[in-house]
Amino acid sequence: MSGPNTNYDPVEVALLRPEAVSAAVDAALDAISHASSLEELKSVRIAHVGDRAPLSLANREIGALPPAAKAEAGKRVGAARARINDAMQARQDELTEARDAAILVQEAVDVTLPTQAGPRGARHPLALLNERIADIFVAMGWSVAEGPEVELEWLNFDALNMPASHPARTMQDTFFVAPEESGVLLRTHTSPIQIREMLRHEPPLYIVCPGRVFRTDELDATHVPFFHQVEALAVDKGLSMSHLKGTLNAFAEAMFGVGITTRLRPSYFPFTEPSAEVDLQCFVCRGASAAGGDPCRTCRSEGWIEWGGAGMVHPKVLQVCGIDPDIYSGFAFGMGVERTLMFRRDVRDLRDLIEGDVRFSHFFGGDI
Ligand code: PHE
Repeated sequence: MSGPNTNYDPVEVALLRPEAVSAAVDAALDAISHASSLEELKSVRIAHVGDRAPLSLANREIGALPPAAKAEAGKRVGAARARINDAMQARQDELTEARDAAILVQEAVDVTLPTQAGPRGARHPLALLNERIADIFVAMGWSVAEGPEVELEWLNFDALNMPASHPARTMQDTFFVAPEESGVLLRTHTSPIQIREMLRHEPPLYIVCPGRVFRTDELDATHVPFFHQVEALAVDKGLSMSHLKGTLNAFAEAMFGVGITTRLRPSYFPFTEPSAEVDLQCFVCRGASAAGGDPCRTCRSEGWIEWGGAGMVHPKVLQVCGIDPDIYSGFAFGMGVERTLMFRRDVRDLRDLIEGDVRFSHFFGGDI
């Protein structure tokens, strides 16, 4: 114990007196115990442990004490600060624990509460069918090609062996983009995609082209001014009608069941020669209704359903695309996707397909 100190200013020493130190400790402990949140404890820390806190100021005075007094004062202040720090730490732990527990309660999710789920959407059956068709061809090693709906007249008609004067142009009632001589229209079929692909790539070419097409039809149960087609084009060395027929049969089987076949009837398209209509064997009665069996609603007891058009790509079309018809030949076919969906899933009114009522789509689920 050092003796009474007479060598320095009693005002300064006042901070170091035992009563002052214990008063500072009491005040600090009181404030700490009353701090009810981490934020409050932070202010308490600034007031009682910070640079301007009484014991911090007192601590600074120790250096000026005579050596004999230094040790005792140092011990006293050090012990006092240690008590405060311990109390501070203990309260900090308590408050942190309380805060964490409160967060757990606040943020708890009761997974058993009833929910208010919004109505679920559905994929449109046409989109599903398009994907299914594309999958069938991709599985055979073909690729999928697409093109713009607003198309050049030249690609939609001229390149397909339908020059301006060609009567076949009137077979496809066309929406033209104004002004009339703009040379731009809404594509009337997906065949211009084939021209684009032939212009862009060297044969061999095996592509399937799904897309929306437009014709100036009135809207009723069996006509819409726009619909979807899917077209297939193969260009290679030595392709013949038998390859066309084999591909159509493979497509029909994949789509409508093993053993379902197709038949070709002579027809005319300017861009194919020879050309044919494609009929699908009725996948419900398999032709039995036409051979005297029970009547069939799907094929109207005809045994066959009209499915699309087909043919060998006209040499002129190959030429326009820079493909030598003496080396290469090609076949193409195209069908309406709505029609395919209608007889596949017994859709009676085309308008249901375009009205966008989600209940209609839900009916099909994910299965087409
Ligand atoms: N593009 C023709 C149409 O829309 C269909 C077709 C495609 C015919 C390919 C033959 C070959 O009428």
